[in-house]
Amino acid sequence: MANKIIIKSKIKKFNKTITVSGDKSISIRWVLFASLANGISRAKNLLMSEDVIAAIRAIKKFGIKSKITKDECKIFGKGVDGYNYKKNITIDARNSGTLGRLILGFLVNSPYPIKIIGDKSLSKRDFKRIADPLRKFGAKFKLKKNKNLPLVITGSSNLKPITYNEDIGSAQCKSAVIFAGMRTEGNTVIKARKSRNHTEVMSKNLKLPIKIKRKKNYDKIKINKVNNINSLNYQIPSDISSGAFFITLTALSENSNLTLKNININNSRIGVISILKKMGVKIKFKNKKVYKGEKISDIKVEGPKTLKPINCPTKYNSGAIDEFLSIFLIAAKANGISYFKNIGELNQKESPRLKWGNIILNQMGIKTILTKDSIKIFGNPNLVINKKIIIKNYLKDHRVFMTSVIAALSFGGCWHIHDKNSIKTSFPNFLKLISKLKKRWSKEKRF
Ligand code: S3P
Repeated sequence: MANKIIIKSKIKKFNKTITVSGDKSISIRWVLFASLANGISRAKNLLMSEDVIAAIRAIKKFGIKSKITKDECKIFGKGVDGYNYKKNITIDARNSGTLGRLILGFLVNSPYPIKIIGDKSLSKRDFKRIADPLRKFGAKFKLKKNKNLPLVITGSSNLKPITYNEDIGSAQCKSAVIFAGMRTEGNTVIKARKSRNHTEVMSKNLKLPIKIKRKKNYDKIKINKVNNINSLNYQIPSDISSGAFFITLTALSENSNLTLKNININNSRIGVISILKKMGVKIKFKNKKVYKGEKISDIKVEGPKTLKPINCPTKYNSGAIDEFLSIFLIAAKANGISYFKNIGELNQKESPRLKWGNIILNQMGIKTILTKDSIKIFGNPNLVINKKIIIKNYLKDHRVFMTSVIAALSFGGCWHIHDKNSIKTSFPNFLKLISKLKKRWSKEKRF
């Protein structure tokens, strides 16, 4: 079966309710916390994607077993000192920056060298940003070209707490340091630019020794050594980053309606909602609740008649970091010029995403002005595509694939989108859900 999809026609108006799969960030964090918990932890709706399966395989290397059935995943933790460190362990983080980076925090006390490898995309990404603070705790690192995978970490039995200024706004850097702080006697102090805070929320929920002071532009986090983690049963909410593709599809499809069930709407994740609302998309939260410190809600979206351009306030950037490709498609149809700035971090993702967003827009016939950390998008509310567009060689970035599918369904043209299997990393049933909204999709699409 070819690993390419061809889409030749636009989606028609729809009115549906769907449930997207479990949140990737929360799923990976649950696996990692559960691996150090006392006894059996259970999760329902755990995201069964390659990134999360890589996390389950990683903890197995340290002797932590799991059992996956249709309804739940069980992890058999052996306590905070329960990892069975051995010589010659290699962890394959595959495509997952979150796994590759977060797990390093827990490995700062390993008596043996542990090797971390990843796929082609992950091997191009920056691991110096994690190695630098973890070295200060006392861990030793060897990195390819001083910044990439493969890397080797050797822990220390004499860890020292650190004071760390996280100024990228990276939840992965912040979380790796929180995890290392949990292995270290004394007070680790982090001043972190705002980024998703699932690690902190889960730590609080587990009553771990963590203190958080929220300031306007940053959080001050204090962590102490953790001596016990209770097992944690968890119902994983749906992922807003996956939902964003469907929110975009609805926003670009006049008179369509969509309800997404049970989405995690943690304040640090809803930048996409704030931005799209400002661009004229009608979005409402329904049935809001709080579950183990995480806000959850159904999201109701309506496709508006006109979309407005935006000079996007940078305060939304970190909360929309994984959703910019979708947002660019909205800007493509907006009635004017949109401007997104200080988003150079997008080029540090599974592919250089700012560059790829620009390539997709230009292929669609949309004018842009690109710099290394910003993009101006000259929207065209009457955009109709009627040419062939080929999307390939994008380092199999799942979000580039899904964005291209949404663009094809929204603007028309004949799209040949390669590397369909990329969706397995974060959202394996993406195309199945599309077929719920697009009539005769299974007859039309070609693999
Ligand atoms: C994630 C943090 C973000 C995000 C990634 C998931 C996490 O990365 O892009 O998809 O789960 O902590 P950065 O920390 O590099 O910004």
